[in-house]
This record gives sequence, structure tokens and C-alpha cells, in this order.
Amino acid sequence: MNAKQAAAHRAVQYIEDGMIIGLGTGSTSYWAIRYLGEKVKQGMRITAIATSDETERLGLQCGIKFSKMDAVEHIDIDIDGADEIDQQRNLIKGGGGALLREKIVAAGSKTFIVIADESKMVGVLGRFPLPVEIIPFGWQHTARRLLLLGCKTIIRQKEAKPFITDNGNYILDCHFASIPDPVALQQQINNIPGVVENGLFVKMATRIVIGYDDGTVKEFS
Ligand code: 5RP
Repeated sequence: MNAKQAAAHRAVQYIEDGMIIGLGTGSTSYWAIRYLGEKVKQGMRITAIATSDETERLGLQCGIKFSKMDAVEHIDIDIDGADEIDQQRNLIKGGGGALLREKIVAAGSKTFIVIADESKMVGVLGRFPLPVEIIPFGWQHTARRLLLLGCKTIIRQKEAKPFITDNGNYILDCHFASIPDPVALQQQINNIPGVVENGLFVKMATRIVIGYDDGTVKEFS
């Protein structure tokens, strides 16, 4: 079992019969979906909410039943990956482009468990470019306003065209180098017209589960 598998496997142990589960996006969440699929095949009954179309496709292949976010009042446990994690459990997310739905699902969850390998732990957030989801209309104006916050912005591309999120938007990857005050920055970014949401998840994670290459796991909350 590699580091990502170990973290995902541990997190899935928190899931109990009858729960409503948020399922994240990315290569670590992939393993959580696979392990949860095994539990479902063994008879566990859960309802899942997907943070992306990709996650829903994979979950369905694994036999997981999905519901719509609006059909549930709350989510019991959300399990998702992260691009960076600091000691205060603040995160950068959105490397896979799913940050908007990931944040809505995390915010609607009683418990938000973050799974990652140890490479994601940092002292200060910001080495990983911060993904910001923006409306396509006037996106270069939005990018210029983000520049004023002290970052370099790069429009995310796929096959030489702007990458389109599941919500029909663009992603700007914002290179700050260091984010010493994530609370202030998330507010400044979300105040810019054209910004839909940013990838800073501040004080949202309940529990962090870190996997290591030798298959061991450490948790903190
Ligand atoms: C997707 C995300 C992912 O959780 C994040 O990019 C981590 O991915 P991985 O588990 O593949 O390292 O935020 O939008």
C-alpha cells in the first residue's frame, strides 16, 4: 500500500452504515472511492455526493449510489485530497480543477477529512500555485485585478485552450510563492468581480490523515 492508498484506506474506516458521504477529486480520493466501493459491495449502505463529474463516473463504476447536493440536508463525512496542508489544517485545493464543488461539499459536511501523502505538508501555504475559479466573461480584467494582490497568474490550459471546469468556468493559477495570511487573502480574492471561488480552504478541515511510503499513517485534528 503506497502513501496515498494508506491515507485513503484509513479515512474510509470512519464511514458507517447509513451515512451521507462527500467524495473528493484527484489521485488520493481515487483510492478512497475504490475502498468505499469495496465496502458497498460487502453490503454497506451509503449515499454519496460527488465533487466532480470524474468522481461520479468512478464511483458509479465502483457500485456507489449518488445523490444531488440539494437532495440532502447535510453530509456526514467528506473525504478529499489537498495540494498543500499547513499545521493549522488550512489547505490549498483545486489542482484537479474541482475546487468550487469541493468547497461547497466541505462546507456542507459535519466532518471534513483530508487525505494526502506527506509531500503535501508545508510550513507556510503558497508554493503550490493557488487555483482561482473565474467567470470566462472579461477574464483578463479579473486576472489583472488578481495581479494587484502580488501574484503571477497563469490561465490553466488543456489542449491549448482554457481548461473548463465542471461549472463552465476558467481557472487562474496564482503564483504567490508564500501565503502568510490565508484568512485575509481568501477574502481579498473573493471580493474581485469575476471570481467565483478560490482554492484556500481556511479552518474547514476537521481531521488530516497523512500517509507515508512505508504504509503507515499519522492523523491530526
Ligand atoms: C482537486 C483537488 C485535489 O484534492 C488535489 O489537487 C490533490 O490531488 P491529488 O490527491 O491527486 O494529489 O483539490 O481539485
